[in-house]
Amino acid sequence: MPQLIVVNREGEEKPVEAQDGLSVMEAIRDNGFDELLALCGGCCSCATCHVYVDPAFGEKLPKMSEDEDDLLDSSDHRKENSRLSCQIPMSGDLDGLKVEIAPED
Ligand code: FES
Repeated sequence: MPQLIVVNREGEEKPVEAQDGLSVMEAIRDNGFDELLALCGGCCSCATCHVYVDPAFGEKLPKMSEDEDDLLDSSDHRKENSRLSCQIPMSGDLDGLKVEIAPED
């Protein structure tokens, strides 16, 4: 199973198993990180699943949709490597991906 490394808001790193096909958001949430609210349940309409992704994986990530881009624009904490974690399906290609949970807006 691909591994995901999650960095919480305290800066603590924890590796978790992420089942193929689950979104990064689901993998984070299912592993008990309750600071990732994911209020809309993954339908790209809340931006509470905002994470910063390891730039080394940039090319392997799915392209950002216009909706995701607009939602990220509504965050005060957007950075170059910001993504909505519900929009990234886990796969073997992303094994070892490190994501940091962004501050709450
Ligand atoms: S969970 Fe709402 S946008 Fe990702």
